[in-house]
Amino acid sequence: MRTSPLVPGAAGERGAAIAIAPMTLDDIPQVLQIDRLSFPQPWSEQSYRFELLENQHAYFIVAAARAAGPTARRWWERLAPRRPMPRQVVGYAGLWLVVDEAHINTLAVHPEWRGHGIGEQLLVALLAHARAHQALTATLEVRVRNLTAQHLYRKYGFEEVGRRPRYYRDGEDALLMTTHL
Ligand SMILES: CC(C)(COP(=O)(O)OP(=O)(O)OC[C@H]1O[C@@H](n2cnc3c(N)ncnc32)[C@H](O)[C@@H]1OP(=O)(O)O)[C@@H](O)C(=O)NCCC(=O)NCCS
Repeated sequence: MRTSPLVPGAAGERGAAIAIAPMTLDDIPQVLQIDRLSFPQPWSEQSYRFELLENQHAYFIVAAARAAGPTARRWWERLAPRRPMPRQVVGYAGLWLVVDEAHINTLAVHPEWRGHGIGEQLLVALLAHARAHQALTATLEVRVRNLTAQHLYRKYGFEEVGRRPRYYRDGEDALLMTTHL
């Protein structure tokens, strides 16, 4: 069993003790932390607030551990003293729904929680939402060197349909991937 500094010992079997739920404003500080640990160009707090409060095309979700341990509670007290601790966010994802197309814009799992099926649960939840809202296709961009994420996407039928040269600020190309829902 892997251990986590957030909830020691809680990340056991694949998908154990994890709930998928819509992202709320209270989740944002923890989402920002995972974002910074996962991407060289993380989103700003304002971006998440815009998506949650103003973008009617947006659907953002989190994967939350059902119970937070003492280490997580201490971490939260340092991060946001005087505010009640929200659920413990271990991953998040989002998409934009425009007409019949869903565009997956972000997906990340806290490094200490990877390899337990959480990214897959998040992707499945996004695709289910897209399907329920009559989307016919889902698209996304992924770094050419990010083979881990590409494996996950291919598992759900995503295929490479194009390449965007130097799409990322550091010069790396993006693969454009699509799946039919
Ligand atoms: C990509 C990411 C979200 C996967 O999350 P995860 O919770 O670790 O993945 P899961 O445990 O749900 O694994 C699901 C599938 O992903 C793929 N995968 C996961 N870890 C992998 C690894 N180390 N090597 C290769 N494929 C891997 C596999 O296809 C796996 O399915 P399998 O177990 O049946 O082989 C996670 O690695 C992450 O947050 N990476 C940094 C952010 C990122 O790159 N996001 C994607 C941006 S496009």
